[in-house]
Amino acid sequence: MDRLTLRRPDDWHLHLRDGAMLKAVLPETARHFARALVMPNLVPPVVTAADAADYRDRILAAKPRGSDFRPLMTLYLTEDTQVPDLRAAAEIGLVTAVKLYPAGATTNSASGVKDFTKVRRVLENMAQIGLPLCVHGEVTDPEVDIFDREAVFIERVLDPIRRDIPGLRVVMEHITTADAVDYVRDGGDDLAATITTHHLVINRNHILAGGIRPHYYCLPVAKREVHRKALVAAATSGEARFFLGTDSAPHLDAAKLMPCGCAGCFTATNTLSILAEMFEREGALERLEGFTSLHGAAFYRVEPNDARIVLSKGEPVRYPPGILTEDGVVTMFDPGFPLHWRVEG
Ligand code: DOR
Ligand code: ZN
Repeated sequence: MDRLTLRRPDDWHLHLRDGAMLKAVLPETARHFARALVMPNLVPPVVTAADAADYRDRILAAKPRGSDFRPLMTLYLTEDTQVPDLRAAAEIGLVTAVKLYPAGATTNSASGVKDFTKVRRVLENMAQIGLPLCVHGEVTDPEVDIFDREAVFIERVLDPIRRDIPGLRVVMEHITTADAVDYVRDGGDDLAATITTHHLVINRNHILAGGIRPHYYCLPVAKREVHRKALVAAATSGEARFFLGTDSAPHLDAAKLMPCGCAGCFTATNTLSILAEMFEREGALERLEGFTSLHGAAFYRVEPNDARIVLSKGEPVRYPPGILTEDGVVTMFDPGFPLHWRVEG
């Protein structure tokens, strides 16, 4: 097979940032994706309906001319989130999901949740109206080894919340472990997971063996090879509970290449080429469309996109090493192998 037609994909987990960065990265996503679920971890975060409306307008203003890309907005859950504001935002379709960051888990998560009992009423209301909760699934307990933080989160936080609030619809974001794959597989219809492009490609050796590679550092941090293999198996399985959320998370090189560098891989530009290569290797190209364009829409109860994109296979595609913003360079994720599939047009 050397041509592949897919319904236009959606990215169910994306960081667009703001200002000069937004202007530079938005075209990279809008080129291939029809919609993206936009993460709210700005500084200050997108907490209220008014914040989400303002941020949506800034995104729409930064859209390339002629693009019909649609940002789907999220609210950042805090211990002060107001139920009436959240319900109103959901009712008018202003927000598609709410994002839970355990305080301190990742980039700009300081306003996140410390005491889960304080958000119980919000979560109950979300269960009532069917508004999905997107979860950054890592405990922040400094005693817990960073490579175990996802598995421990499932046991200590996520499973108790889901038992306590039946009917709460949850997306476990950017899963990185076989433990999460198993948990989501057995979790019933109210549970799904996004998988990133980079976690399908790298394991922890890529970050640390033979020199430290800051551009492969992201959160949750990549785990052992057995876990990467479990993610590849889940993504290529055709199971509807697994779908693409790139977690493309741009940072300037100046912020990555530091004694204490930021977490995030920037994959918006080359994601589809990488995924096609990975799915082809697994003999699962016919399941790529489910992962990129159907399963997420079904979980979020929206129609898949009508438009199509065509991928074609040929000589390796040359992507630039990064993109330029007004403030500096953002390095593109390098999968470390040649990419033969390109998106036409
Ligand atoms: O690697 C990551 N980068 N993981 C996250 O959870 C946040 C993201 C970011 O915003 O940079
Ligand atoms: Zn993210």
